[in-house]
Amino acid sequence: MSTENNDTKNNEPKNSEVDQYSGVETTGHEWDGIKELNNPMPRWWVYTLIVCCIWAFAYQIYYPSWPLINSYYEGMGGKTQREVVKAELEMIAEDRSVFADKIQTTDLATINSDPNLTEYALAGGKAAFGDNCAPCHGTGAAGFIGYPNLNDDVWIWGGSLDEIHYTINYGIRGVHEDTRINDMPAFLRDELLSRQEIDDLTTYVQSLSDSSIQSTPAVHEMFIDNCASCHGEDGKGLREFGSPDLTDAISLYVTDRDSIVDIISYSRGGVMPTWNGRLDEATIKSLAIYVHTLGGGE
Ligand code: HEC
Ligand code: HEC
Repeated sequence: MSTENNDTKNNEPKNSEVDQYSGVETTGHEWDGIKELNNPMPRWWVYTLIVCCIWAFAYQIYYPSWPLINSYYEGMGGKTQREVVKAELEMIAEDRSVFADKIQTTDLATINSDPNLTEYALAGGKAAFGDNCAPCHGTGAAGFIGYPNLNDDVWIWGGSLDEIHYTINYGIRGVHEDTRINDMPAFLRDELLSRQEIDDLTTYVQSLSDSSIQSTPAVHEMFIDNCASCHGEDGKGLREFGSPDLTDAISLYVTDRDSIVDIISYSRGGVMPTWNGRLDEATIKSLAIYVHTLGGGE
């Protein structure tokens, strides 16, 4: 690299020349015969850059900007987003409590017929369902064995808004004195029926939903004597007692023949917690509305 004449001061007018190809003046800088053309940045660009730099500098001074070790530079303008966020949060909380208060004090049917309240209740109910109910009933409320599907229109305890609300509020075999309760006897363990009788009844239960399976009038009598008080003479269940319908395809525990033998022998008594006292009334109402809309609400 040639170092001759690289100092601008020295080469000002005398070393500058006009490039013969482009017609542009050179700066006089030259490296191995390659000359630098004098093409400065456009003025407007330079001024914009300067303005931006000044703006950025002033901005940093006026607004909170630099992090310090234990705090931050607060800026000369005394601006802070905290106040803005706080005010916004207060506004949201106020909006919410207005809705929550309304839901708390309004009866379910009225909430259900008011689109605004319903919308609010559904959003709150959905969130509360994910937090409190999904572990047992599944995120989509489709349930698992022993944990009923809440999307279908088969209800053990009833699918009206008030019935659902009652179930959620007091639970099933829960801790509240008004909890829903119905304990099927464990017919084998409690020595109420023999293995053979349970086997016959199992066939009978299967015959209720499967016409290819035949039972006998004697076993039907046994069903009437032992089971009809809860499940009804036709086996269709009795909602006021929370005894499931044995004639439909949807079932809480039954998957195969053995599972029927098992439940008649030992029963189950699944527990649905009491939510009264654990969730506030507005949330329980929102949950009732949400569950009611899932598909099978009556
Ligand atoms: C610990 C597990 C568990 C949790 C948590 C739970 N449930 Fe349940 N739920 C059950 C069981 C078990 C049953 C069925 C009980 C029975 O009838 O044998 C049930 C039944 C129900 C029923 C009645 C269904 C019918 O067919 O009548 C509703 C409604 C219900 N649950 C809603 C909820 C809601 C809403 C939540 C959340 C706030 C919730 N459950 C949380 C276990 C649970
Ligand atoms: C005191 C009331 C009661 C009596 C009597 C009773 N059950 Fe039940 N049964 C229930 C309840 C409640 C359930 C729900 C399961 C549970 O929580 O234990 C149930 C569940 C069942 C199920 C499972 C249903 C499902 O959806 O998974 C079968 C099958 C059944 N009973 C058959 C019988 C037979 C057969 C008898 C007579 C030998 C009988 N039950 C007597 C209350 C009763």
